[in-house]
Amino acid sequence: MAEQRFSIYRPIHKAIRHLLFSTSRQIGLADFADDAVTHETLAIVDRTISFLREHRGHEDTFLHPVLEKKVPGITAKFAEDHDEDDRLTTEIEQLGAQIRNANGARRVELGVEVHERFNAYIGIYLGHLYREETELAQALWDHFTDEELIALDAAIEGSVPPERLGLWLAEMSASYNPDEISLLLNIVKAKAPPEVFQGMTQLAENAMQPAMWAKVRTRIGLG
Ligand SMILES: [Fe+2]
Repeated sequence: MAEQRFSIYRPIHKAIRHLLFSTSRQIGLADFADDAVTHETLAIVDRTISFLREHRGHEDTFLHPVLEKKVPGITAKFAEDHDEDDRLTTEIEQLGAQIRNANGARRVELGVEVHERFNAYIGIYLGHLYREETELAQALWDHFTDEELIALDAAIEGSVPPERLGLWLAEMSASYNPDEISLLLNIVKAKAPPEVFQGMTQLAENAMQPAMWAKVRTRIGLG
């Protein structure tokens, strides 16, 4: 087997896929004739779109510029994907606003539409994630060491306000394997103040199954 390189995309894309699939399921379960369920479902959709937008921003700010310096032009079609992504998610948000203003049979009908549109969007976006995990990941491996990639990852995490980092960590804890979450926490341990590490380990412990936390504990040096 080839030597395992540090993947900047794979773990975070697990969290993104978890958000996409769990949101798709929530929309699928929703009774759009019910006011409370409708509002709760749309809040989940908005929350997921805010994570997607933030993630796209991280790639645009931290990864595309360094890749362009090494391989000019490589991010052009990924930037186009991000524009399309922005357009599609904005349309879904607008549909959400329409649903909030609708009632009765019309709202149920729009509920069917948001389910179809959200899942069509997932279909398009999954191809983009895979192209990043292969084409862009390979370019990163060709031009940067694992230490440099870990530093880039730490810079992204360092740019996220603590309250948002907590929300991301809950999604990561729900979708990462023990190695991935331990690597992330070890980066925090090495780079951030001890109280940040302590806060994050607490959040991770709360979000995880006990058997998984037991593995992570050992791997982040908590015995
Ligand atoms: Fe992307």
